Amino acid sequence: SQRFLQVLGGVTLVTIVGSGVLYYYAQKDRSPGPQLPHDPTKKTIVVLGSGWGATSLLKGLDTTEYNVIVVSPKNYFLFTPLLPSVAVGTLTPKAILQPTRYVTRHKPRQVSVIEATATNVDPIAKTVTFADTSEIQGQVSSTTIQYDYLVYAVGAEVQTFNIPGVRENACFMKEMEDAEKTQRRFLDCLESAAFPGQSKEEIDRLLHVVVVGGGPTGVELSGEIHDFLEEDLRSWYPELANHIRISLVEALPSVLPSFSKQLIEYTESTFKEAKIDILTKTMVKEVREKSVVLQKPDKSIVEVPCGLVVWAAGNTHRKITRDLMAKLPEHQTNRRGITVDEYLRMAGTDGSIFALGDCTATSYAPTAQVASQQGRYLARVFEQLAKRDNLQARLQLLETAPEAEEAKAEKGSLQKQLAKAEKLRPFHYSHQGSLAYIGSEKAIADLPFFNGNLATGGVATYLFWRSAYISNLFSWRNRVLVLTDWGKVKLFGRDVSRE
Ligand code: FAD
Ligand code: NAI
Repeated sequence: SQRFLQVLGGVTLVTIVGSGVLYYYAQKDRSPGPQLPHDPTKKTIVVLGSGWGATSLLKGLDTTEYNVIVVSPKNYFLFTPLLPSVAVGTLTPKAILQPTRYVTRHKPRQVSVIEATATNVDPIAKTVTFADTSEIQGQVSSTTIQYDYLVYAVGAEVQTFNIPGVRENACFMKEMEDAEKTQRRFLDCLESAAFPGQSKEEIDRLLHVVVVGGGPTGVELSGEIHDFLEEDLRSWYPELANHIRISLVEALPSVLPSFSKQLIEYTESTFKEAKIDILTKTMVKEVREKSVVLQKPDKSIVEVPCGLVVWAAGNTHRKITRDLMAKLPEHQTNRRGITVDEYLRMAGTDGSIFALGDCTATSYAPTAQVASQQGRYLARVFEQLAKRDNLQARLQLLETAPEAEEAKAEKGSLQKQLAKAEKLRPFHYSHQGSLAYIGSEKAIADLPFFNGNLATGGVATYLFWRSAYISNLFSWRNRVLVLTDWGKVKLFGRDVSRE
């Protein structure tokens, strides 16, 4: 019993110290100090977006040398990898959102955060026009501002291929409101199926979930819905649970084409065990109010009744991106997005526009990993540009000074430093691996390993997936919120009330 008391004492001490440290940092984070005001002699960086690229830039950027203005229709950063978990209530929305001000208020110089949608970029006049598109607007709801540098990180939007009925009848899985809408609709389908007197055909229709797109988003969402069914719905809707069916529709011959072959097979066999139907070489041709129209591998057309369709069929660029590219027709000809050079400068501009993330067309996949590394890289580029500008200003002052020996020596040293500051290092992407959750407490991972690849899947990979995402979350606050939600779901299950 003495040993037990010693262990208990140790655990208590660690808990108290841990809580104290967490409390200290949380308080520090909550009370940002005063900031330097905007300085008209400094250059202005306008950042469009508050997603992976923009937020990772803002985190790394030293604002001492710049006036920074962030414009985004969302006043927060969304941790997209955990979005499918929100769609089934494993996580609460706020757990994976981080207000942008929580980042910018900790910067040495004030950063303006404006909740607005950029509507036009003029690369010649160096201006951005943006509008308040939210429900409530003040007297001024649209304006144009000048920039010295523009960081263009507006991401992409859902690709519908203009397939009829997609916008009207399907849910997406891109933004927070998409996940919330999917959750509400799915619970609505369940409650409608539970309505007295419903025919068996109608119950089967209402409880058929069709996920379109066998990329990582579609696969992860299918896995999450399956977990919701097995871990919660079987208890609370026992009479309906056996009617719930998940179909994953993919136009290509296999799901997850970017993962290694053995992980594709592992996912397919896990889905088979989980009774998730994978329909490959099958293309969705239309989404109707109560059905989807499919073109099967033999090219025959069938109409399949369903209650919920989630469209996860990839991305395309936004209208503002198309408009901006159209202003530089000679240089911006890539249909996949903005062409940038190896320093992320938009082709066709004088180096004042940097573009990063999903809105660009590079040799990298459109992933959070790429966008965040580009953001961090750009923060270093701005630091170097500020250094270059300061050195140039000091040299200019010396030009006007008398030709004293000291001034000559200083000039030589400054010129050397300037030559170094003018040499930018190109962006280099370091791939950390690909991870995806496939449901049933299993995940898959393709990890770089000694110049090769380690492909692994299963429960251990799932624990790795969880720890990787916890460590990748942008703040301790979000880590605590996500861990708490995971703990709540383990204890009490997911909530099935429809808000
Ligand atoms: P985004 O993060 O999309 O940010 C774009 C920003 O621009 C947003 O803040 C948006 O509000 C803002 N914006 C939009 N229009 C305008 C405008 N007109 N003016 C100003 N601002 C505007 N990648 C991974 O590497 N690993 C994963 O596990 C992973 N999981 C994912 C799961 C889901 C469900 C989804 C949808 C994506 C996932 N991705 C993942 C991909 C990843 O989210 C994107 O590649 C990443 O978000 C790209 O970053 P970005 O900064 O280019 O764009
Ligand atoms: P995606 O582009 O990777 O996959 C979309 C899939 O939909 C494609 O396989 C396409 O063939 C299919 N499709 C398109 N139209 C169709 C139709 N009419 N009928 C049937 N199938 C159709 O899109 P996703 O999954 O949203 O991913 C976007 C990006 O985000 C990717 O770069 C991906 O790597 C990244 N991502 C990464 C994750 C991870 O690493 N865990 C998770 C989610 C996204």
